[in-house]
Amino acid sequence: MTDGKDFGIYFDEKDMSFLIQTKKASYVMAVVNGYLGHVYFGKKLGSAPGLSSLRMGDYTYLAGKPGDKCTFMDGFPFEYSISGTGDFRACPLVVKNNDGFYGGELKYSSYNIYKGKKALPGLPATFGTEEDSCSLDIELVDEVLGLKVVLTYSVFEGIDAVTRSVRVELADGETAGDNAQAAGVNDVQSAGVNDAQSDDAKKIYIEKIMSASLEMPYEDKEIITLHGSWARERIPDRRVIGHGTTSISSSRGISSHQEHPFAAFVSPDCTENSGEVLALSFVYSGSFLAEAERTQHDMLRINMGINPNNFSWELKAGESFTAPEVIMVYSSEGLGDMTNSFHEVIRKHLIRSKYLHKKRPVLLNNWEATYFDFNEEKLLKLAETAKKAGIEMLVMDDGWFGKRDSDNCSLGDWKVDRRKLPNGVGGLCKKINDIGLEMGIWFEPEMISPDSDLFRAHPDYAIQIPGRKPSECRNQFVLDITRKEVRDCIFEQISDILKEANIRYIKWDMNRPLTDVGSITTRGGEFHHRYMLAVYELQERLISEYPDLLLENCTSGGGRFDPGMMYFSPQIWCSDDTDAIERLAIQEGTALIYPLSVIGAHVSICPNHIVGRTTDLKTRGYVALAGTFGYEMDINRVSEDELSEIAAQIEMYHKYNDLVREGDYYRLISSNRLVKRSSDNTSYSWMVVSKDGSEALMTYVQARGNANTRSEKVKLKGLCPDALYSLPDGRSYRGDELMNIGFVTDKIYGDGAASLYYFRRKEDEL
Ligand code: DGJ
Repeated sequence: MTDGKDFGIYFDEKDMSFLIQTKKASYVMAVVNGYLGHVYFGKKLGSAPGLSSLRMGDYTYLAGKPGDKCTFMDGFPFEYSISGTGDFRACPLVVKNNDGFYGGELKYSSYNIYKGKKALPGLPATFGTEEDSCSLDIELVDEVLGLKVVLTYSVFEGIDAVTRSVRVELADGETAGDNAQAAGVNDVQSAGVNDAQSDDAKKIYIEKIMSASLEMPYEDKEIITLHGSWARERIPDRRVIGHGTTSISSSRGISSHQEHPFAAFVSPDCTENSGEVLALSFVYSGSFLAEAERTQHDMLRINMGINPNNFSWELKAGESFTAPEVIMVYSSEGLGDMTNSFHEVIRKHLIRSKYLHKKRPVLLNNWEATYFDFNEEKLLKLAETAKKAGIEMLVMDDGWFGKRDSDNCSLGDWKVDRRKLPNGVGGLCKKINDIGLEMGIWFEPEMISPDSDLFRAHPDYAIQIPGRKPSECRNQFVLDITRKEVRDCIFEQISDILKEANIRYIKWDMNRPLTDVGSITTRGGEFHHRYMLAVYELQERLISEYPDLLLENCTSGGGRFDPGMMYFSPQIWCSDDTDAIERLAIQEGTALIYPLSVIGAHVSICPNHIVGRTTDLKTRGYVALAGTFGYEMDINRVSEDELSEIAAQIEMYHKYNDLVREGDYYRLISSNRLVKRSSDNTSYSWMVVSKDGSEALMTYVQARGNANTRSEKVKLKGLCPDALYSLPDGRSYRGDELMNIGFVTDKIYGDGAASLYYFRRKEDEL
């Protein structure tokens, strides 16, 4: 189908094989002896290969020796398998029947190829039209369990990405209930432990369900993941893959600061510009697992999905469960090309916000300016000075509600603190608007403080294991938003504020992981996932009821900076570490997958509050420019000169943001953790090129002053080779010269010195 386009999905009846085509890659599966096998995900093929391409280990069962079925099951490269019947590798699906026995076997049943892409119930996912995407559903069945497993694949025009998701359905319903998962979002109560159900009703327990599983030759592949901690998120980590299982995961109920739902499998020679990459990114914001097992046959079995730890989903007859989506990207042209594919698929097919292609307001956030110590007068003074510099929005962060003078109370009581804001949020907002600024506000909707009116009235609203005192974290508990009445209670309070004031932006924060997971209504093994569905439902409600609202997600900085949240908000606060030099690695790791337009980045005061470093204001501006751009400082304490420099920075933002937001991003000098180098990099450089190659912005930062590299020759990327590019000072160069010989940066000096170069293509080509 989709003849004449660079993408498509085909089925070969003779070979019983499926061929999925993207712009430059092919994905192949084949049905062998009734089982669906993974054949290939790599460089684009002209047509589907026959069975000869399959590597399956021992073939004796195929040759008609059912007495040796186990050997076959132990080696066949299943596209998707259930544990317990001979596939001893890390299986994507683990199910327990009503008697507590594990085991299942998936046989190919049917397929359906169609134009466009279906949405996933209650879940964030990529989207596409009938013109720019097509999809494939493959149905596998286990007749003994009465289980249907539908694997869904989609591809998009002009993008090297294949998406995957899985739906399982238990047949023969006496207790009908189409899609228990979606019902769980809308009416979590119905799936609760108090929900009476007949014990003899047919049901199974899903103990593990991976969204993607594939198997390929090991071929010395290495793995790149993104790891970190609070204020040090998404730092690349590249390592060899040994025998056994290599995995990364989060069990915190958030995608986490520590590991990231992303894994790239790269050939040992993979660099920015060459070598093979196969990368997976999970469109989910909760606990996850990515695992790679190097098997006895030197194959790699790769799985990605919801973390099976503490997961057990009861599926009754007639119900279904949909697992979230995985985006898979293949490139034979190195990490830079992989990055470009992720940026494209996320910008074109994941972020829905109407702000995606708009310049975001330059905002001043009062967090690092005042922390909890503010009142109307202070905020208005900030707004007045901000206005003079050209700032367009004031965001009132944590501390405006209840009696919150520190982080030890009032979460859940979203009523204005009249001591600080005597005229309410509405009154303050009006005054800010009168100054000429928009207003934004901070909420932490998923939380409840033990010292809050909400907790005193409803102690059961906090997540807790009955009979056990839950652990506080930042002096707070997590709300049991799997309960509809809890979601409504919070939503209505937020709504009251939005109705009272002309709020244009919300920062949705979340400042602790989930512990002591228990509920008076929701089953333990389902809690983590139902919690995520509830977050998604709340955010969906917010952006549909308030369609003009600009939503920014935040989780103690970047603890939930993932594709799942991008479906709801076009920008996410990247990290609480606002130090420009620390941000070089954090933003580079983040931009490995995510477009610059999503990366929340602000200029903050020096010495930096997190690391104590002092960095040139110019450099702070250049680093924040590679993100959403804004300020996070007491602007009343900067000098007149600095205020003028801030005004100039804001002009710079307006001049370059269209290019930064919409252009193609390239790493020029990147972290040595990403590519193999014999020495540490002391500088970072990146550039953004407009889609038509007519303009480019290159940033060069010396993270550490270096006696021998005050200036460096940097090879630019993405330019038109034959075109002539000029800098504002009149210097001009050919594109191929800049890309192959390199551009010699101006001499700069000292820790954190930086320069910015704007190249404009001259009309006349050489
Ligand atoms: C954590 C966020 O990352 C900060 O930016 C700030 O909003 C604080 N929470 C407020 O408590």
